[in-house]
Amino acid sequence: MSESPIIVVKIGGSTLGSHDTTLEDLVALQREGWRSAVVHGGGAAISEWLDARATPTRFVRGLRVTDAESLQVVVAVLAGLINKELVAAISALGGQAIGLSGADGGLLRVSQLDPELGYVGQIERVDSDMLVRLLDAGYLPVVAPVGILWENQRLQSQIMNINADTVAGEMAFALAAQWLVFLTDVAGVSGSDGGSLAHLSCQEATALIDQETVSGGMIPKVEACLRACQGRTRTAIIDGRQPHALLAAVQQGRFLGTTISASEEGP
Ligand SMILES: Nc1ncnc2c1ncn2[C@@H]1O[C@H](COP(=O)(O)OP(=O)(O)OP(=O)(O)O)[C@@H](O)[C@H]1O
Ligand SMILES: [Mg+2]
Repeated sequence: MSESPIIVVKIGGSTLGSHDTTLEDLVALQREGWRSAVVHGGGAAISEWLDARATPTRFVRGLRVTDAESLQVVVAVLAGLINKELVAAISALGGQAIGLSGADGGLLRVSQLDPELGYVGQIERVDSDMLVRLLDAGYLPVVAPVGILWENQRLQSQIMNINADTVAGEMAFALAAQWLVFLTDVAGVSGSDGGSLAHLSCQEATALIDQETVSGGMIPKVEACLRACQGRTRTAIIDGRQPHALLAAVQQGRFLGTTISASEEGP
């Protein structure tokens, strides 16, 4: 069991819904002996809850500016509602999931990314040992992207919001995962002519960010792929709206989207 491959999957808030087959795919992969860890977003739900409380929200370079009041909503919605809904849904499909946040067990230690962004964390350390223990025990960890502030050489009692894509990239790197797969709401990464690209080398992906062809919520995904590719992880950004897109990628090597790796050619 401990030698079975590891896959890190990021589920986008935008594709999570009743028609999504990703959770079925994760349970199927768990049955086949893959060790999978999930990171989830929840941008849309957080925005709804913030609107309901009439708390204004604003993004800078795709990252939510998080003040003390928005942080409460972020933690409640991400580490509470969405995380537990996912665990319940996976359990109902026969999977064995354990929901946790990056604040649990010292999983994610962060510094403040930028004072302008408020309580937004930059990952300093991922405790991959704890994740490996959960994976080896047969669990599918479902991780909410918040962490604990590390300052003055010690942990503070401050929870921090972290971009979910960044968490997925750092987790894949720390776990030396075989695969990092992003499920999102588009057909892949589009190039300058608007068409979706099948494969990008690291240099090509970096150029698309520099040219601002990749923007908004796609930036942290592509950056996370670039981070994970520094190790031996293969990465893909695929269309979570397509039924069984995750199984097609992992089992059949059929990518309904874009792969990004150090090589000029696809996987
Ligand atoms: N070059 C590009 N190719 C494809 N999509 C792009 C590109 N540049 C920007 N985008 C935008 O990135 C979006 C995907 O990121 P987004 O953050 O909205 O979704 P998500 O991360 O899957 O969901 P969530 O943030 O709710 O967890 C696409 O819907 C698209 O509008
Ligand atoms: Mg996003």
